[in-house]
Amino acid sequence: MDYRCPACGSDLGRRKISRAVVARLEVDCSRCGKRIRVNVHPVERAVVYANFGAILVLGGLAYWLESRELVIAAVAVAMAGSLAIPIVERVYLRRWPRYAPLDGTHAPGGARCAAEPLPHRGPRIALRRLREADLTVFQAYRHDPETGRYQGWTPQPGEQAAAFLAQMARAPLFAPGEWIQLGIESRETGELIGDIGVRVEHDGRSAEIGFTLRPDARGAGFGAEAVGEAIRLVFAHTLADRVVGITDVRNTPSIRLMERVGMRKVATQESVVRGERCAEQVHEIARG
Ligand SMILES: CC(C)(COP(=O)(O)OP(=O)(O)OC[C@H]1O[C@@H](n2cnc3c(N)ncnc32)[C@H](O)[C@@H]1OP(=O)(O)O)[C@@H](O)C(=O)NCCC(=O)NCCS
Repeated sequence: MDYRCPACGSDLGRRKISRAVVARLEVDCSRCGKRIRVNVHPVERAVVYANFGAILVLGGLAYWLESRELVIAAVAVAMAGSLAIPIVERVYLRRWPRYAPLDGTHAPGGARCAAEPLPHRGPRIALRRLREADLTVFQAYRHDPETGRYQGWTPQPGEQAAAFLAQMARAPLFAPGEWIQLGIESRETGELIGDIGVRVEHDGRSAEIGFTLRPDARGAGFGAEAVGEAIRLVFAHTLADRVVGITDVRNTPSIRLMERVGMRKVATQESVVRGERCAEQVHEIARG
């Protein structure tokens, strides 16, 4: 179980969840003072309700049948219930975040900081929100078949792409389970030169990254700089402990880029991309 505050990351320790099981329970972080909620997993809720139900039934029967054995059984079930929750926490919910932000903008355990950290600047590039005004450039490189060859996305018609850019302009940053696509801008020209997708996993403990540079911006190190900055951003603003990049084994520029930013190959896996069977390499970098 992860007992860290989703706002400041400090360890808030274990707490009894009985009240949080029946109603939403909000508390203040003892370190940063931010109001957060106690995040109960459905399995914990099921264990508490099952235990409570069993005690009620056994207690009722004990009273009705005047049975001492059933009283003892009810007490034993109550004791088992109080042991079951810590065991569930330690064994089944090892990575579950006990505390979650109040608003829906960051799901449990995902974000460390609610403030918008964009634009985020590197020496030559800036990571910023995509916007509708990017449509022409965005569509030009996304419709290049070579650029999309090893990508999970497919080119969209103009209207859909415009809606996607509008959505990305205001989507919550690093909401677990959701992809957020960020623009890569050249600081020298102010032009959009590519984009980076980041998805923090549901448990908030790792993130996946995907990246694209428009063809005329390649071969100058912009991609590596942008991916390096995106990794920094993830580690600074989420609780993820590792960032993963998955690419087709034939995508040499992508593999070289990931190695350049310090990501190491950890696995090779079979996959099907756009109906084609392929082998993918998984690279990852851990929080330093
Ligand atoms: C993957 C992709 C972003 C890599 O682009 P890239 O320009 O090769 O990568 P970088 O930005 O790291 O640039 C590195 C190249 O610039 C060169 N370079 C020139 N000046 C440089 C500098 N100042 N700093 C670093 N590298 C520099 C490097 O030598 C290197 O060239 P090399 O690979 O021939 O040795 C690009 O090929 C792409 O968009 N592909 C299509 C989308 C895709 O497949 N994405 C991956 C899916 S996850």
